[in-house]
Amino acid sequence: MKDILCKIIHHAPLKAGYWTLTLDAKEIASQAQPGQFVHIRIPSLENTALRRPFSIFGATDGKLKILYKTVGRGTDKLNALKTGDTLSVIGPLGKGFPLTLKGVPLLVAGGYGVAPLCFLAEKLPRKGYAFIGARTADDILCSELLQYMGWTVYTTTQDGSMGETGLVTLPLDRQINQLKLKNLTFDLFACGPDGMLKAVGQRAIEHNMLGWLSLDKHMVCGVGACLACIQKLRKEDGAEWTGRVCRDGPIFESREIIW
Ligand SMILES: Cc1cc2nc3c(=O)[nH]c(=O)nc-3n(C[C@H](O)[C@H](O)[C@H](O)COP(=O)(O)OP(=O)(O)OC[C@H]3O[C@@H](n4cnc5c(N)ncnc54)[C@H](O)[C@@H]3O)c2cc1C
Ligand code: FES
Repeated sequence: MKDILCKIIHHAPLKAGYWTLTLDAKEIASQAQPGQFVHIRIPSLENTALRRPFSIFGATDGKLKILYKTVGRGTDKLNALKTGDTLSVIGPLGKGFPLTLKGVPLLVAGGYGVAPLCFLAEKLPRKGYAFIGARTADDILCSELLQYMGWTVYTTTQDGSMGETGLVTLPLDRQINQLKLKNLTFDLFACGPDGMLKAVGQRAIEHNMLGWLSLDKHMVCGVGACLACIQKLRKEDGAEWTGRVCRDGPIFESREIIW
């Protein structure tokens, strides 16, 4: 884990409300694993919580990429920064996704949750299927990028403005059934809203497969010191414990999480 001052190399809109930010961050990029995150100090944010957590979207050639949605004070201020400005970044933080597979990888993303899954899609030893769901087409991100990487992509929107109408579990369940008919095993990886994570986790347990879920909790320190991000968890022997999403996660296997 490093705390470094990084220069902004590129900062551009991706889609309505979503931006990509590329930083010159050799020390962090060289260690980054999919599913890990960085904690970025937002300049001119005056209160005590000065940093904001963002998943690592990409890390190549010393460059660190994040994909973010403008939702409030911090991301608004981040948005105003220009190429050449510098940012203090701590990372890589947390525990990432495993990169070994037992079967066909199935990625399930909601909104900016696609960011760590794109990085994962690049690093997994084989391609599989990606399912991207959102309320409307404006929140469907990176489908072309995943297709370009060789993944088969399904999109769903609740208002029918892009892909199939309905929840992302519709094409996911169809794919799971097809794999089961062929007696194939699969590994699930998901990042998005809690409802989606719960649904994916239930499928992992029901089909006796592994389901790796990225939890999104409000964070303050990002390094396990403040207890802002606590989550009830279960050990393999069934014992319950309270973990910190920033330090013990953000990736957990579905059986570990007590919702
Ligand atoms: C491990 C992790 C990885 C993340 N990765 C990304 C990412 O790749 N891209 C991205 O755009 N965002 C990501 N987030 C969420 C991001 O940290 C928040 O959107 C950001 O902190 C909001 O800051 P703000 O000051 O703009 O919003 P605030 O002014 O603090 O809040 C504005 C609104 O956003 C909500 N909000 C604040 N923090 C979160 C949060 N953690 N999750 C959900 N809603 C929140 C608030 O409840 C409020 O409604 C991640 C969060 C975590 C914990
Ligand atoms: S954010 Fe402080 S303990 Fe996790």
